[in-house]
This record gives sequence, structure tokens and C-alpha cells, in this order.
Amino acid sequence: MEYVWAEEGNLKFLIPATDPALPFPPGSAPVFFNPRMELARDATVLIAKALPVSRYLDAMGATGVRGLRIAKECGVPVAINDRDPEAVSLVLRNRDVLGLPVEVTSSDANALLSERTFETVDIDPFGSPAPFLDSAIRGCGRFLFVTATDTAPLCGAHRNAGIRRYFASAMNNEYHAETGLRILLGFVAREAARYDRGVEPLFCFSREHYCRLHVRLLRGAASADRSCRAMGYVLQCPSCIYRTHAAGVLPPQGECPYCGKPLVPIGPLWTGPLQDRDVLVRVSELVPGSGYRLSARLQKLVDACLGELDIPFHYDYHRVARYFRVSPPPIERVIDSLRGCGYAASRAHFSGTAIKTDAPLSALRDALAGDRRD
Ligand SMILES: C[S@@+](CC[C@H](N)C(=O)[O-])C[C@H]1O[C@@H](n2cnc3c(N)ncnc32)[C@H](O)[C@@H]1O
Ligand SMILES: [Zn+2]
Repeated sequence: MEYVWAEEGNLKFLIPATDPALPFPPGSAPVFFNPRMELARDATVLIAKALPVSRYLDAMGATGVRGLRIAKECGVPVAINDRDPEAVSLVLRNRDVLGLPVEVTSSDANALLSERTFETVDIDPFGSPAPFLDSAIRGCGRFLFVTATDTAPLCGAHRNAGIRRYFASAMNNEYHAETGLRILLGFVAREAARYDRGVEPLFCFSREHYCRLHVRLLRGAASADRSCRAMGYVLQCPSCIYRTHAAGVLPPQGECPYCGKPLVPIGPLWTGPLQDRDVLVRVSELVPGSGYRLSARLQKLVDACLGELDIPFHYDYHRVARYFRVSPPPIERVIDSLRGCGYAASRAHFSGTAIKTDAPLSALRDALAGDRRD
């Protein structure tokens, strides 16, 4: 294998040389490394610092970059695992070059997590984490971090695959990124509840081609019951832009108050908060001094998550404006005008045109038509 040096966070490490002419160079290398996940790794290192974590398992290490960064930047004991021998030899080489005290193992992640427990477990597989979550929860003491890159099943583009993997029905619409994140979080909550464990989201976001969860796992039937009460459905009208949500195990029946059509349930999914604001404020305070290459982007993401309302769906500003045939004022003015009318309203991290509000559609239309009435 031919190696080249890469740099991320405060770490210089070896990655396999890739052929940039290939359509997806990370997938063509003998050991996987995707530079587009840098921001997700930055977020994980800073949340690990903010919590702080005390023992971290990178269960699917590849080059080992995540675990190596935690070892170097957080100074806590780290184990890095991968079942691929080529990945393991690269992790060992990186560990030795960097002189970091990291345990390296070469097990199947499910086997490792069935035998041992780590305070913090990070699952970063190719595609869906669903086949690893049962063992990850059994092998996790306090904090569970999860990546999913199978956004097509999660977001409804491959609806049957989403039903098979997550036993949830998604809808491929303008807020599918949020649906996918909440279906994944809901799946984790249901997997945890089987072991009388509850889930508290700390910093969960969706971006580009992936979802990333950072959650706290609690013990006891009462905390599992609390998580189960956060499960529910988003209900979408099939013919207009009306949507609402309801908690509960069963999807409620209902009709669109605007056009009378039966509402389509999306879920089951997590309807509760996606963030722990205290933890996120601590992450936010760590960003400016991080010196990270992408710190401005990370700050923007953290601020957007901090400002986001705890409503399990959003509207797309352009889509709503088109629907009402209005040419809207800038998005910030729409939000101010909703707030001025006494409604809760915020932007959301899912896109630059996402709006969250508890306002009825009639009030949203008035806010979007604001310019024309001035
Ligand atoms: C997406 S890569 C991990 C990327 C890495 N965490 C990073 O941030 O660059 C997924 C890795 O999981 C490993 N893997 C896949 N299935 C596994 C399993 N069942 N047990 C352990 N490792 C596995 C693969 O060999 C691959 O190196
Ligand atoms: Zn309708």
C-alpha cells in the first residue's frame, strides 16, 4: 500500500494514496478515508472534550483518524478496532508514528461489543448502522456516537429499504433530511429501550450525505419509558403542504384541516429534542480556540442547532412561497414577523431555507406575503 500524509485537527497521519481520477476515491482505496467527513470528526472531538468522555472505542477505525484524534486532542484512553487486516496495520502504523497510547483490535465490531464494554462507543460503518446498534448499546456505558450514510433508505428515496432496516416509513419530500435523522434516532431509542435504557440526544445533525448522532444512554425502565414517550409520527397531507405531529406508538388517524385528505403518517420517529443545549453551548465555546480548518462551518452548524426549535419537522421557505404564489421577503424577516405575531419560529440546520414554526399555515402565508402588504 502506498501512503501519503494527511492533516486534520491537530493531527498529521497516514492515509492510503488514492487515484483522484476515480469517481469516488475514498471507496477505491484499500483502507477507507473520506476527507468530506472532517467536519463530523471535528464535531465529535469537541463534544468528546465538552462532555468529557473518559474511555472511547472507535469500533470501525479504517485509518484510525477518529480514535487517534480523540487520543491526541482529549488525552483519554482510546481503543481502535477494524475487522479488516489492512486497516488494522495502518492504524498500528499511525499509532506508532504518532506515539499515542492506543489499544488496537481486529475483531468484528458486533463480537467485540458483545464481549466488552466501553464508556463511549463510536459506530461509523459503510452505509447503515442498523446491524451494529444492538451490540453497540450492549457494549456502551454512557455515550453512543453513530454515523449513517444510507440516506436514501432513511429519507424515503428507497422506502422499502428504510422499512427493512429501521421498520419506519419515510417520505421523500422537502424535509426528508430531518425525517431521516429522526427515524435513525427513533431506531436507536427503540433498540435501547429493549434493554431498559433511555436515550438523551446531545448533538444530532444531518448534513450532505450523512446523519451523525451523539447521544447519552441512561439506565433504568423509567428513562426508557421517557424515550418511548418521545416516539411518534409526523403526519403529512398528500395534497397540500399541511403537516403536524403526534406522539404515540400507533399513528393517529386524521384529516387535513385545509383539504380534507387523510393524513399520511411518517415514522415511527423521534419527536423530541435533537440537542442538549448545555452540552452544545460548551461545544460552541470550544470551537473558536480549536484552530480547525473548518471552524467557521462548525460554528455555523452548532449555532444553527442551538437556535433550532424542538419541532419534529420544518418548512422549506421557497416551497411554501411557491405554494402560496408569493414572492417572500428575506427569510430572517419572515421569522421575525412570525415571532412578532406571537408564534415560535426559527431557522434549522438542515438547510439555509428551512423554517421551523408552530404557526398555522395561514399565519405562515401572511408572514411570507409580508412584503406585498407593506
Ligand atoms: C466508513 S469506514 C470508517 C471510517 C473512519 N471511522 C473514519 O472516520 O475515517 C468503515 C470501516 O468499518 C470497517 N468494518 C466494516 N464492517 C465491520 C465490522 N463488522 N466490524 C468491524 N469493522 C468493520 C471497514 O473495514 C471500514 O474500515
Ligand atoms: Zn391538505
